[in-house]
Amino acid sequence: MTCVVGPRFARTGSNPPVLVVDCILLVSQTGQKTACCSVLAMTLDDVSFRPARPEDAETVFGITRASVGGLAGAAYSRDQIENWMGERTPAFYEALIARGRMTVCLRDGVAVGFVDAIPGEVTRLFILPEAAGLGLGRRLLEIGIAQARLGHSGPIKLEATINAEGFYQRHGFRSVGRGYFSHGVGGVPIEIVHMQL
Ligand SMILES: CC(C)(COP(=O)(O)OP(=O)(O)OC[C@H]1O[C@@H](n2cnc3c(N)ncnc32)[C@H](O)[C@@H]1OP(=O)(O)O)[C@@H](O)C(=O)NCCC(=O)NCCS
Repeated sequence: MTCVVGPRFARTGSNPPVLVVDCILLVSQTGQKTACCSVLAMTLDDVSFRPARPEDAETVFGITRASVGGLAGAAYSRDQIENWMGERTPAFYEALIARGRMTVCLRDGVAVGFVDAIPGEVTRLFILPEAAGLGLGRRLLEIGIAQARLGHSGPIKLEATINAEGFYQRHGFRSVGRGYFSHGVGGVPIEIVHMQL
């Protein structure tokens, strides 16, 4: 039996990518061909956004922890990553949700990220590692900025994690100073970059 690989990462559909597949063609000694294809990336069409609900609190707590653990590790110490959540619990996020400006992003019906804001500030933006790099952070940031602008005129500020400074710069924010995260509950100090739009 010979194994012919190709095309790997064949891309079908339009922009944004619809489906990415990996195909292997198995050829037996009698010439019989069997194709094995597996889906490597799902459609981006099934992405939606909705206001966070009280029952999302535990999910949002989990997204924050997984996002930090998976995406911020290069910019912070192991101690900082492990203690990032401090004394926060899902109840802490339920109180934030009750303020009415948190939005969750769903992919295929499953929450994979969220953004939160208060007037004048985007306060939180986290994407699960497996959903990063697909443009969802950008779309959530746009929503967060719109939420921060409600009832507020003037610059929009945020406290960027060091790993995300380039992401915000790419979307028009400029760095105006350094400090420590001010929205947490306990935990080790987390260095951040103060940014403004
Ligand atoms: C930062 C974060 C929200 C970005 O979300 P994402 O969904 O991966 O980003 P997107 O796919 O929407 O990227 C949009 C653009 O920003 C760029 N970008 C994404 N992350 C970047 C980074 N860390 N530095 C520089 N550019 C970045 C992308 O390359 C893309 O560029 P393009 O316009 O050329 O295509 C996500 O990586 C994350 O949750 N990180 C961990 C948690 C965190 O630090 N959150 C910020 C708290 S303040």
